[in-house]
Amino acid sequence: MRVLVVGGGGREHALIKKIKESKKVDYIACCPGNGGISFDAECFNVGACDIDGVVNLAKEIKADLVVVAPDDPLVLGMVDALNKEGFKTFGPTAAAAIIEGSKVFSKNLMLKYGIPTAEYKVFDNADDAIAYITEKNEFPTVIKADGLALGKGVIIPESLDAAIAGVKEIMEDKVFGDSGNNIVVEEFLTGPEVSVLAFTDGKCVKPMVSSMDHKRALDGDKGLNTGGMGTVSPNPYYTDEVAKECMDKIFMPTIEAMNKEGRTFKGCLYFGLMDTPKGPKVIEYNCRFGDPETQVVLPRLKTDIIDIFEAINNETLSELEIEWSDDACVCVIMASGGYPKAYDKGIEITGLKDGDLDGVTVYHAGTALKDGKLVTSGGRVLGVTALAGDLTSALKKAYDGVEKISFDKAFCRKDIGKRALEALK
Ligand code: AMP
Ligand code: GLY
Repeated sequence: MRVLVVGGGGREHALIKKIKESKKVDYIACCPGNGGISFDAECFNVGACDIDGVVNLAKEIKADLVVVAPDDPLVLGMVDALNKEGFKTFGPTAAAAIIEGSKVFSKNLMLKYGIPTAEYKVFDNADDAIAYITEKNEFPTVIKADGLALGKGVIIPESLDAAIAGVKEIMEDKVFGDSGNNIVVEEFLTGPEVSVLAFTDGKCVKPMVSSMDHKRALDGDKGLNTGGMGTVSPNPYYTDEVAKECMDKIFMPTIEAMNKEGRTFKGCLYFGLMDTPKGPKVIEYNCRFGDPETQVVLPRLKTDIIDIFEAINNETLSELEIEWSDDACVCVIMASGGYPKAYDKGIEITGLKDGDLDGVTVYHAGTALKDGKLVTSGGRVLGVTALAGDLTSALKKAYDGVEKISFDKAFCRKDIGKRALEALK
C-alpha cells in the first residue's frame, strides 16, 4: 500500500512511524512533513490546508490511503474532497469534524443528548457576554472562542476586569479572527484531566489507552497555555471504573448523538475529559489524534494500524480486537526558548543521528534540514519519547535522552509525569 499522511508535526511523525511498522505498507509520503519526518517518509512541499494540492499529490503518488491528521484541513473538508475523487481516507468529513470546529455546536450537542459537560451560555456580542459575566460574578470563569484557534482559544480569567478584557479581545479585537464571532462562557470545573483518543467507525467506539497532557509552558503548571509540553500514558486517574462510566455516559452517547444529527463520525475522536467530584465531564472534543498524546499512545499499540484504518472504512471495527502493551510511555517536549510566544528558528540541533537517538524515539515537531543539518523550525521542536515497564523507568529514559540533545535556548518541563506519579503513590 502507498500511504499519504497530511500534516507536519510530532503527531504526524508518530503516525508515520507506526504506519511504517505495517506489513501492508511499502511507501509513505507526507505533506508538508518536516526535517525529521523526511528520514521516515518522502516529504512534499504541499501545505496541510491546501485541499487541491493534497488531492493532486494523492493522484500523483497513487495513494491507496490518505490520513488527514490536523484539525484545520478536516474542518475545511479535505476528507470530503479526497473521497469525491475516489480516495480512501482516515479522518472525519467536515460535517463530523464540526464537533471540534465549533464549540457552540459541541456544547449544544452535549446539552441536547445529556452528555456531562460544564454548564454554559453562548453569546454573539460582547455586551451581552459582559453583562452575564458581571451578574454571575463567579471566578475563575471560562471563556472559549467558538472556532479553531490553534489550541489557544480558551481563557480562564480570575477577575471581572480580566474577563471583560478577554471578551473584548476575542469579540471586538478579533485576536482569533472569525473564530471569535461567537463565544461560550462556561462554568469552571476542577479535577484531574484525562485525554482519551478513540477509534470509531460510527457504529462502535474503541478507546485507546489513556494519557495525560501537560499544557502549561512551565513547571508546576505555571506559565502560558501551549499545544502541550509533554504526555504520559497510561493516565492513573483513568481507572477501570472511570473508563466504564465514560463509555456509558460519554463515548457511546456521543457516537449515537452524531449519528442522530446526520453527522456520523469516522476516525479518531479525542475526548478531553475532567474527572470532577461529580464524575467525568467533557472539557472538549477534538476531531483528530491529539498532539502530543499520539506520541505516547501509538507506541503502545500492538495491532497493525492499517488493519484498524481499514476496519473503520469497512465499518467492521467491532470485529477487530485491538491490542496494547502494558508498558508506560513518556514524551518530553523540547521547545524553542520563548515558546509559546516569539522564538528564533534555524538553530542547529546536535546529538541526533539520522534524526534519532538510541534508547528513545525522537518525534520531530518543528525541525528542518538545512544543508544536511537538522535545525529548529517551530516552537515545539522534538518529542523525546520512551517506553518502559513502569512510569518511573520511562521518565528516566526520556529525560536521559533529553540530556543528550541540544540546541541554543532549548527548554523543557522538568516535571512531566510528576502528577501521575503522585496519583500512583
Ligand atoms: P481546551 O482547548 O478546550 O482543551 O481548553 C484548554 C484547557 O483549559 C483545558 O485543557 C483545561 O485545562 C482548561 N479548561 C477548559 N475548559 C475548562 C473548564 N470548564 N473548567 C476548567 N478548566 C477548563
Ligand atoms: N494536546 C491537546 C490537543 O491535541 O489538542
